[in-house]
Amino acid sequence: MLKYNCLNPIAEAGTCLFTENYEKVDNYQDADAILVRSAAMHDMEFPETIEAIARAGAGVNNIPLDKCADQGIVVFNTPGANANGVKELVIAGMLLAARDIVGGVNWVQSERQNELIAKATEKEKKNFAGSEIQGKKLGIIGLGAIGVAVANAATHLGMEVYGYDPYISVDAAWNLSRSIKHIQQVDDIYKECDYITIHVPLMDATKKMINQDAIALMKDGVVILNFARDLLVDEDAMVTSLRTGKVKKYVTDFPNPTTAGEKGCLVIPHLGASTEESEENCAIMAVKQLKDYLENGNIKNAVNYPNCNMGECSHVCRIAINHRNTKNMIGQFASVLGSADLNIANMTNTSKGDYAYSLFDLDTHLPEAVRDTLKNIEGVLKVRVIK
Ligand SMILES: NC(=O)c1ccc[n+]([C@@H]2O[C@H](COP(=O)([O-])OP(=O)(O)OC[C@H]3O[C@@H](n4cnc5c(N)ncnc54)[C@H](O)[C@@H]3O)[C@@H](O)[C@H]2O)c1
Repeated sequence: MLKYNCLNPIAEAGTCLFTENYEKVDNYQDADAILVRSAAMHDMEFPETIEAIARAGAGVNNIPLDKCADQGIVVFNTPGANANGVKELVIAGMLLAARDIVGGVNWVQSERQNELIAKATEKEKKNFAGSEIQGKKLGIIGLGAIGVAVANAATHLGMEVYGYDPYISVDAAWNLSRSIKHIQQVDDIYKECDYITIHVPLMDATKKMINQDAIALMKDGVVILNFARDLLVDEDAMVTSLRTGKVKKYVTDFPNPTTAGEKGCLVIPHLGASTEESEENCAIMAVKQLKDYLENGNIKNAVNYPNCNMGECSHVCRIAINHRNTKNMIGQFASVLGSADLNIANMTNTSKGDYAYSLFDLDTHLPEAVRDTLKNIEGVLKVRVIK
């Protein structure tokens, strides 16, 4: 029986995928695997039984990745599972910026006691009029799961879409509509576009990417959308630019004292991925990845270990070894197995940064003593007999 613990509530659409071979436990100290959303894990001590942690969501800054990797604990996330939820809110954000829908709805609310509201509306509505997004130029910085989804949706709404991502993945490139203009220099996005939306991860290289210099290159009356992270934008420069009218609207999913209540800022309370569907998609993906790792040793979408896939084991035994990415590890594993007269029927080894992962299928069971010898090889972090 494999045991899992949920540090946060996880959508049932995911947890119902656990079969009768799994048991939910209340304490992570008793578990083989942990499911988590936002719980802070940096101060937690993990028992040796923990094989994996799956985060139902994309960001993993609540999880001590290196500490986990050192203990042979694989940490998964669910990239792209909430992309559609965020995409839909970005489209809504563009529409909210194009017309003063918020101002108009607030005006109606303020006039709710007015018996003559219908008549007043016809006089007042010009104050909330706007423009259409069809035919406007949209610049997208970062063409990952969300950026690609926004790009494709915006082309269907008749926008002219410019995309910039020097590190675009092959998968993302395949998914991108052919009508999107591939931009080589981010400055061209700044200079050309009426709407600019940013979908890059927050890293040292992207922090305050949208700053005074970038804004200075933009068209007067540009709309900037930020559904990625607030620190990607120099928000003091943004407020100054809103006040001068250089920027027409700043739509952000990240309330903070700089932007909340500032005229021209449309601040949404971090609702990008807050949909039933996104939460379910994340839970389903997290549980599927966790199960494939626990049952077959396969790794997909880990953030601290490499991907690895040997399918289901059709041999007598499968061993998984989490180890450091140093020389002669495979040679040592093969030599230990060979010395014990065990034939390797199938094997694979992958690496990512300082860590590596090896799977071996054997035609016979692995004796306990041989397992201990493997465990004692310097650089080995975990040995797991899966079957
Ligand atoms: N508002 C929300 O609720 C919410 C939800 C999910 C994700 N997010 C944020 O959105 C971001 C993007 O999410 P995603 O799922 O699309 O991630 P992703 O990893 O699929 O895509 C990120 C893309 O950014 C590109 N990139 C990296 N550095 C770049 C640079 N300097 N210039 C241009 N492109 C660059 C990468 O090549 C990649 O294609 C996340 O990092 C997260 O911060 C927000």
